[in-house]
Amino acid sequence: MPLRFLACLAFVAAAPVWALTPQQLANSKGCMACHSMSQKIVGPGFKQVADKYRGDKSAPAKLAAKIRKGGSGVWGTMVMPPAAVSEAEAQQLASWILSQK
Ligand code: HEC
Repeated sequence: MPLRFLACLAFVAAAPVWALTPQQLANSKGCMACHSMSQKIVGPGFKQVADKYRGDKSAPAKLAAKIRKGGSGVWGTMVMPPAAVSEAEAQQLASWILSQK
């Protein structure tokens, strides 16, 4: 299957050109204005979020939706505004946040 192999190579070669790390994405989308990795600022620290949802299989989809729509009431009365991110970016951010230890 030479074609498949080539397609694979092309993907691997192209990836670093466009892909931001989730950390860079979070910085560029302004998430870090309200969140830090380990402690509460305006919103919860991302490690706290990961701890809260550890073992929750619905968490990636739930958090991706929350990142896009915003909301409040889970961590307190402060409101998280909806973020201007694509569905793919929201999923990338959610799984990165949930992978914090
Ligand atoms: C203006 C401040 C602000 C910004 C900017 C912000 N957040 Fe939040 N975030 C919050 C607050 C406040 C909460 C707590 C909401 C709650 O209690 O339901 C929160 C909660 C969260 C949660 C946990 C949600 C839950 O239901 O447990 C995640 C995940 C999250 N934010 C990710 C992000 C990401 C990713 C971005 C950037 C795209 C971002 N936030 C930008 C304030 C912010």
